Amino acid sequence: MSFRTFPKVELHLHLEGAAPPKFIAGLAKEKHVDISGIFDERGNYAFRDFLQFLKVYEAATQVLQSPEDFRRLTLAVLEESASHGVVYSETFLSPDFCGGGDVGAWREYLHAIREAADQAERDFGITLRGIVTCIRHFGPDQAKRIALCAAETADDWLTGFGIAGDENAGQPADFAYSFDMAREAGLRLTAHAGEWGGPQSVREAWRDLRVERIGHGVRAIEDLALVEELAEAGVVFEVCPGSNLVLGVYPNLAAHPIEKLRERGIKLTVSTDDPPFFHSTMTREFENLARVFEWNEDDVRALNQTAIDAAFCDASTRDKILKKLETA
Ligand code: HPA
Ligand code: ZN
Repeated sequence: MSFRTFPKVELHLHLEGAAPPKFIAGLAKEKHVDISGIFDERGNYAFRDFLQFLKVYEAATQVLQSPEDFRRLTLAVLEESASHGVVYSETFLSPDFCGGGDVGAWREYLHAIREAADQAERDFGITLRGIVTCIRHFGPDQAKRIALCAAETADDWLTGFGIAGDENAGQPADFAYSFDMAREAGLRLTAHAGEWGGPQSVREAWRDLRVERIGHGVRAIEDLALVEELAEAGVVFEVCPGSNLVLGVYPNLAAHPIEKLRERGIKLTVSTDDPPFFHSTMTREFENLARVFEWNEDDVRALNQTAIDAAFCDASTRDKILKKLETA
């Protein structure tokens, strides 16, 4: 069996974070912006730790300046995902980088992204849905503007709201107003937690933001009572093992808690997060899990089922994707 061609569902992917370095370097040249400092001598993104990763990430977004840039980016990212067998994907979209939080500007960016998604569905057979994400270290006031962008554009395509960024900035409760606004607009909710913060950060995100999914969540393993509660509640973890290894959350895959979380009943899915930053693809994630934890086709099938059950899409989209998954 080839993990590459096996149909897969991916729920945790940052659109700008999926930009290949060559794509960003090409735009930088076109626009005469000097961001050469973010690349190493081989042209890969260069960073040493999480905070530097966030800086490099934000520097790369400086060259994404127009809806047209995001249209091209979306198409390139979806072509790459589809080439790794991804049939359904959800991507985090940041109005912060698409008009700075202005609702009118955000609508134009979103329109361009959706045009590219429609084209990718026709050309590559991949379905995309969008999750607006606010950025924690930009603070609660800016998050409210981002939540308003999300609430104003919520529909059957823009289906979720979340939070990413530096987990050590502020508390989840500081963002409760934004999550309440998004929930009232009908959006489904996820939050990054338990990547840099310990188990308490997962508990707080779950309790104070009332999310149904957690981005990463892996450090919940340090509190087994919490793991039991989250398993019982059916909270889904969007686990990104390759990301955790490159950013140094765990020294190697054998030390990663994904298998322990699964054994303890946590519903989990596997994603790439920011694939070119972490030299990751969906193929590579599953190849590594097969090598270290002896995961096989049945495990991939089970993970796909968890992911599509937890997907922020409507029932007819879910049925369509389930049919594609059944072919495997
Ligand atoms: N964690 C937090 N914020 C992020 C990430 C991540 O892995 N990727 C992009 N923004
Ligand atoms: Zn992420």
